[in-house]
Amino acid sequence: MPSPTERRPSTTFDLAAVLAGLTSEEKLALLDGEGLWSTTPVRRLGIPAITLSDGPNGLRTQAPDAEHSGVLSSLPATCFPPAVALASTWDTGMVREVGTALARECRASGVSVLLGPGINIKRAPLCGRNFEYFSEDPLITGALAAAFVDGLQSQGVGATVKHFAANNQETDRMAVSADIDERPLREIYLRAFETVVRTARPWAVMCAYNRINGVFAAENSWLLTEVLRQQWGFAGLVMSDWGAVAHRERAVAAGLDLEMPSSTGRGAAAVRQALEDGRLAQADVDRCARRVLDMVDCAVSAPASREEFDPVGHHEVARRAAVGAAVLLKNDGGILPLSRRGGPVAVIGEFARTPRFQGAGSSQVNPLAVDTALDCLTAALEPGREVVFAPGFRIADGDAEDEAPTPEALLTEAIEAARTADVVVMFLGLPAAHESEAFDRTHMDLPDVQLDVLRAVANINKNVAVVLSNGGVVNLEPWQASTRAVLEGWLLGQAGGRALADLLVGDESPSGRLAETIPLRYEDNPTLGNFPGEFGHVRYGEGLLVGYRWYDAHRLDVAYPFGHGLTYTTFDYSALAVDVRDSAAPQVTVSVQLTNSGGRAGREVVQLYVRPVGPTVHRPEQELRAFAKVALDPGESKQVVLHLRADAFAYWHPRAHRWVIDGGKYKLHVGASSRDIRLTETVSLPGEEILVPLTAESPCGDWLDDAVAGPRIMRTLTGRFRQILDDPEAARLHRPIPMFRMLRFPGFTIDEDQLTQWADEANAVRAKAATEERSTG
Ligand code: BGC
Repeated sequence: MPSPTERRPSTTFDLAAVLAGLTSEEKLALLDGEGLWSTTPVRRLGIPAITLSDGPNGLRTQAPDAEHSGVLSSLPATCFPPAVALASTWDTGMVREVGTALARECRASGVSVLLGPGINIKRAPLCGRNFEYFSEDPLITGALAAAFVDGLQSQGVGATVKHFAANNQETDRMAVSADIDERPLREIYLRAFETVVRTARPWAVMCAYNRINGVFAAENSWLLTEVLRQQWGFAGLVMSDWGAVAHRERAVAAGLDLEMPSSTGRGAAAVRQALEDGRLAQADVDRCARRVLDMVDCAVSAPASREEFDPVGHHEVARRAAVGAAVLLKNDGGILPLSRRGGPVAVIGEFARTPRFQGAGSSQVNPLAVDTALDCLTAALEPGREVVFAPGFRIADGDAEDEAPTPEALLTEAIEAARTADVVVMFLGLPAAHESEAFDRTHMDLPDVQLDVLRAVANINKNVAVVLSNGGVVNLEPWQASTRAVLEGWLLGQAGGRALADLLVGDESPSGRLAETIPLRYEDNPTLGNFPGEFGHVRYGEGLLVGYRWYDAHRLDVAYPFGHGLTYTTFDYSALAVDVRDSAAPQVTVSVQLTNSGGRAGREVVQLYVRPVGPTVHRPEQELRAFAKVALDPGESKQVVLHLRADAFAYWHPRAHRWVIDGGKYKLHVGASSRDIRLTETVSLPGEEILVPLTAESPCGDWLDDAVAGPRIMRTLTGRFRQILDDPEAARLHRPIPMFRMLRFPGFTIDEDQLTQWADEANAVRAKAATEERSTG
């Protein structure tokens, strides 16, 4: 387990001495925030308060007296692309750079801990906060979030990984119980948290508001202590989401160190009472207080500076991240990039001049500067290439306005602009009123007012390219056939307008890839009937089949698959080579030759999926296990090397309570998306046999198959049961029956004491074999 000091270069306080010098009331005060955004100081001992701030895609530093959700009062800061866009870059280096830049802004504002990244899995396409999360897949989420944390913490600013765990919807988020089986919980919903905790060692984890299988995250000692600290080795601090604590004393017992924001004394009163009546021990309180002090120490031990940051440089970081994030979904006949010269370009859609570039809620940043695609595109084209703008529609403030017909004048103006244009670039998207923290969407459609304009324009001009601005996926099927290109621009941050213009004119080549599937229709999605739940529960009925795992298993066509994204060039894959080392704990190295076979420079994302062949337990068809983003000039080739460790093949075994690898064959799929596999190879791995202890509940067959217990049972049995169990055909009926039930059948001549003795002997042999296997593995 890493010690807290491994997470930072130096310490300032002698924590043990400080802790020993605190009064009990000072300790209680430390467990609570001060105001909205800071820890509580201990002035008597020179322990300062440190400032925490939202996040994640820009700094939302508020004046001390501002109300929690107010965004107007936050100080201006660079608005970087939100996680939906960062995820589409598939670029750990770029995401690390964003984290580093964010940390500089934190330090310039005196912020020690950023409240991000948010890494919940996109279980349902309608989750209102999907713009703030990375992906439907835990591998890409974990890899990119770890890079973000790394960048941030490299500058001495702490990251807060949130919302731990299973906060996958906004509806009833403060109370709903996410009811999840153990395998999906481990393999999908906890996995990215595990990756980030193990590899990037964040300073803090923020617990979610919701319940998990009936227990509030804030009071869940299995989650906050057993899994997070004991199994994963987390050495940092757990804080509450804002207002997530209901019973402070239970939260302390579960391992929740810091309640935020200040509970104005309520938390301390509850803990004091619990100490008095013995429900908590002083050691429980000391543990939390120590972790708060440790985080304060991390902050004050970071190299001192309050230097200014470079806003122009940060705008450029935001632009480059946005360039890498936009996903070119289709480009029929190569209509994009636009040529700089030529006849008029009609730019239609209010989003071209009033961009939507971030989501709403606690992550909303007061941006330093905002680029608009209209201005940037006009500037990028030659002066002779006329740009005719028509807003086409108003961006609605709510459903009522969505449903109102498009004003006639706006429609006519758009049609006129399209009539004489060589090409039309239409900017469509989701109004802010459609998606936000605190509520979920009710459908996946773009507003009708926008589609009316698109229909009218596409009727008159066949060269329509659509640019989308949306945080969650939208339904493309009703309209995409009437367009030649679709550029999915997500929410791209304050420099998104410039990035889109650069991509549209070909100064940059699109290189984003989908980190979530776009289904053909909402009804195909895995959560149908199980989202957003009812009567306080949401059942994760799709189990492991989240996102592409579902569409693959059900052989469903999709609008665009996970991993998809076009470029302005083409890539060839060849020479797949696989090397398997140390087969007890497999290390597989996969290499492939990648060649830019087109006429432009571009970046490809090489994706590696693993598919178990004939697994002994239910497994998804294929799962993303490695990826690399590679830049190549025309004609250039590179060897791309990807590494798979044992966990790429493992599944969570709910009886053995650990990750297990099945022996057998695994197909390795290398390709440009989950449904564009270019090369495959098969490897064989030895795996391990899992011998769970024999108990009275174990089926009769398991007892018979055991090398120790089986022969003893058969020797002791007499009469018809011996005959039945000796005959494989006849035994089929009895083998599945739990042993404790067999004991009750007349004529089953074995008693409980005998069984207990044999189970002890059999289990001792099993335990010894398992220990030997682990030590040789
Ligand atoms: C959100 C968190 C946020 C916190 C502080 C909560 O409502 O869920 O993500 O960090 O508020 O603003």
